[in-house]
Amino acid sequence: MKRDVELSILKELMRQLDEKRNVDAGVMYRNPTDVYTSREIAERERQTFFRDHPQLIALSGSLPNPGSYMTVDDFGVPVLATRDESGLFRAFVNACRHRGSRVAESKGDSGHFVCPFHNWVYTNQGELAAIPLERQVGPIDKDCRGLIELPALEQGG
Ligand code: FES
Repeated sequence: MKRDVELSILKELMRQLDEKRNVDAGVMYRNPTDVYTSREIAERERQTFFRDHPQLIALSGSLPNPGSYMTVDDFGVPVLATRDESGLFRAFVNACRHRGSRVAESKGDSGHFVCPFHNWVYTNQGELAAIPLERQVGPIDKDCRGLIELPALEQGG
């Protein structure tokens, strides 16, 4: 900032202090009301702030033990965070690969998750471990039907 502009701003602030008044912007700003109500703007903001950037979802202590898990629904994509049996932190889309039902709710300790819809079973490493009545469903390559893993990093925990 140029020195003369800086001095001018300081003088104005001192004058307002002397007169015991505060004119922050000096003008009245008008915002269209749809910035508060528009679904499109809200979705753009969600995309920009929450999906285009890494998000802090918890402190390491939120997953204290091998088998600990928690769900997060703050970013528009349901997230299942786990600490697997080796202690590794992982994150998955909390959606069954069969019909998309959530496989976990809230938080707790478990080495596996059973989808409440048709009981497909996933490990806390995201692998599809079992399909009840598999013969009736037909051939399914379980290696391709694990939970969708999200990029995740635990740091300083
Ligand atoms: S939706 Fe999960 S087992 Fe069918």
